[in-house]
Amino acid sequence: MYIFHKKSDVQHWIEKIKKEGHSIGFVPTMGALHHGHLALFQEAALHCQSITGSIFVNPTQFNEAADFNQYPKTLHSDIYKLNTLTSCHALYAPEPDDIYEDSALFDFDLDGLDQVWEGAFRPGHYKGVVNVVDRLFRIFSPDHVFFGQKDFQQCRVIEKLIEKRFPNIRFHQVPTVRESSGLALSSRNIRLSADELKKAEEIPVILAEMASMAPHSAPSDIKSYGENVFRHVGFELDYIEITDQRNLKEIHDWHSPSVILFAGKLPSVRLIDNWLIPAFPNMSL
Ligand code: PAF
Repeated sequence: MYIFHKKSDVQHWIEKIKKEGHSIGFVPTMGALHHGHLALFQEAALHCQSITGSIFVNPTQFNEAADFNQYPKTLHSDIYKLNTLTSCHALYAPEPDDIYEDSALFDFDLDGLDQVWEGAFRPGHYKGVVNVVDRLFRIFSPDHVFFGQKDFQQCRVIEKLIEKRFPNIRFHQVPTVRESSGLALSSRNIRLSADELKKAEEIPVILAEMASMAPHSAPSDIKSYGENVFRHVGFELDYIEITDQRNLKEIHDWHSPSVILFAGKLPSVRLIDNWLIPAFPNMSL
């Protein structure tokens, strides 16, 4: 695997690879790689001849300095994992200056998808995400990109960015990888105490139970049920919402595919997860 720290070196390599006629798959990450990330690289290998990735703990997407400072930075072991467990051909691991040298952050119009839920609770978060992803897409000019369903709203935000600015990129959403307990893998899970881990393991259980109540209960009733149970377990809830999968607006019937979006805090860490619910087009409540 080639390791580049300068975008000019990445671009030079990409030019050469494109001349050879290879399709390019790109997996952006912030490192602290786990099996959820490795699944993105494995999916990329199914679609592309040249597989690329980035590791960059993007300071502009952290709305709290403490979260940025505590975010694990594990470049050496990440490189080892990529070398031994994936077929990644080239990795970009820049310093902030190499990405942000030129400009202030842009404001992108993403039809409001970046303003709700995570966008509302983490002001500036998606502005930072979209600014770094836009720069990374321009550096790599990928044909295919791979993002985890775990960050469901991020998937919709990036799809919108692609629709507006990179129409030739094909977006892939890769299913969430979970522990045997059902807990979604996350680089933040290592901050959980033993007691918090037990509570966190309730997240997928409650989400699955909520999903199983569709389509015979109303979305608003299922949401109230979920709020009560999560609070009872000990979460401080940011939100638990049932929304349309495409536009992330709250739903009132089951006619389109929907998703339960969860964000809740335990004392040491804030966790997000989601659960898909299919459409029940003929179901009236
Ligand atoms: O999902 C992430 O790890 C980050 O938001 C991303 C897409 C790598 C941008 O920094």
